Amino acid sequence: MSIIKDTALHASGEQKIQWVKSYMPLLSGLETEFRKELPFEGLRVALSVHLEAKTAYLCRVLQAGGAEMYVTGSNPLSTQDDIAAALVHGGMEVFAVHGATAEEYHTHLKAVMEHCPNIIIDDGGDLVNLIHNEYRDFLPEVLGGCEETTTGIIRLQAMAKDNALQFPMMAVNNAKCKYLFDNRYGTGQSVWDGINRTTNLIVAGKTVVVAGYGWCGKGVAMRAKGLGAKVIVTEVDAVKAMEAVMDGFTVLPMTEAAESGDFFITVTGCKDVITEKAMRRMKDGAILCNAGHFNVEINIGDLEALSVEQFESRKNITGYRMADGKVLHLIAEGRLVNLAAGDGHPAEIMDMSFAVQALCARYVAQHRNLEKGVHFVPEEIDREVARRKLLAWGVKVDSLTKEQEAYLNSWNV
Ligand SMILES: NC(=O)c1ccc[n+]([C@@H]2O[C@H](COP(=O)([O-])OP(=O)(O)OC[C@H]3O[C@@H](n4cnc5c(N)ncnc54)[C@H](O)[C@@H]3O)[C@@H](O)[C@H]2O)c1
Repeated sequence: MSIIKDTALHASGEQKIQWVKSYMPLLSGLETEFRKELPFEGLRVALSVHLEAKTAYLCRVLQAGGAEMYVTGSNPLSTQDDIAAALVHGGMEVFAVHGATAEEYHTHLKAVMEHCPNIIIDDGGDLVNLIHNEYRDFLPEVLGGCEETTTGIIRLQAMAKDNALQFPMMAVNNAKCKYLFDNRYGTGQSVWDGINRTTNLIVAGKTVVVAGYGWCGKGVAMRAKGLGAKVIVTEVDAVKAMEAVMDGFTVLPMTEAAESGDFFITVTGCKDVITEKAMRRMKDGAILCNAGHFNVEINIGDLEALSVEQFESRKNITGYRMADGKVLHLIAEGRLVNLAAGDGHPAEIMDMSFAVQALCARYVAQHRNLEKGVHFVPEEIDREVARRKLLAWGVKVDSLTKEQEAYLNSWNV
């Protein structure tokens, strides 16, 4: 029995799914292939990914391939109740409610896990964590799984290092067709979409502080520049900091950047990136948000401790009034701003990320002797996804002649 907000919402969810589907040609192609091949026939797939329209379509593609799907979200604020309703209406079991408490969210993860999955599709590592901690009897049933995001892979690698990870997990995030497009262009665009639609403020002429210059941070900073902002980057890695300098950005420690920022966006995967030290130095009216996986990058406890009043300053924004009257605004409780205050990445981007997911899930189903641990996505999956996307967008590329191939593979020329 599913646990969702309201099955009556299904029509609106269905409309959203049909919209994204028409911009996801790779997934549509895989849906047709999987329907014929049935690579997941007889397999139970547990999925915990931000539950919005693109994810729903991925679920349907896996279901078309014969999978029995058990679905939950990966963050209570990114779950869209109408999407959950549309999946249930289509016959899937879903356990997810927008705004669920931490306890309810855990109950939803458990409800998925109770179905003893053969394949786990995770985004941030919550299902993998749960099975290793609370459902160890189910471990032998798991053929393997796929992890969507940087933070989840960091958790998996830590488990593998301690020899704790008991099945193979494909590092989907680390495929080129994932991080080069999803983390950079997807996060770059959708973070600003989330901020703009939630705040309705101008970005041009403002100072934007981006914490972290990884794949996501590069995208967020690039788009901030495109919107006319002055951009400051904060980093802990010397090479990334140097890259930001060469890309034309100012690099400063957070406590110094704090003084001039109008918008602060954390996207590091680390915790306590903005703490009371920086908050004390921020300007009145500064907007804070996070795009990293967990809501630990902005220390909300510090915001609460510093403030004398908290209020809803605009829908999905909390105002924290300090003793001196200054107000700092936090979007979507510090959860991923593009998902908790927007619809996530554009469909065309998730078409590539989820094509990697679907092909990796098929790889796991077809290679039942993979060793436990974290696996790179095979190069041919990356190449295949890029090839299909170019084809779908009508982009032609050159190919090597035999002579060129020989030249590139020789040393004695
Ligand atoms: N919002 C989204 O839709 C979305 C999409 C993809 C990834 N993510 C998440 O975003 C986060 C970043 O992902 P990524 O792929 O850019 O990772 P990445 O590893 O490429 O980059 C992270 C960067 O943050 C820097 N960093 C770490 N701690 C820092 C600190 N305390 N201060 C300043 N910089 C610091 C690192 O040096 C690194 O350069 C992860 O949590 C990931 O799961 C979110």
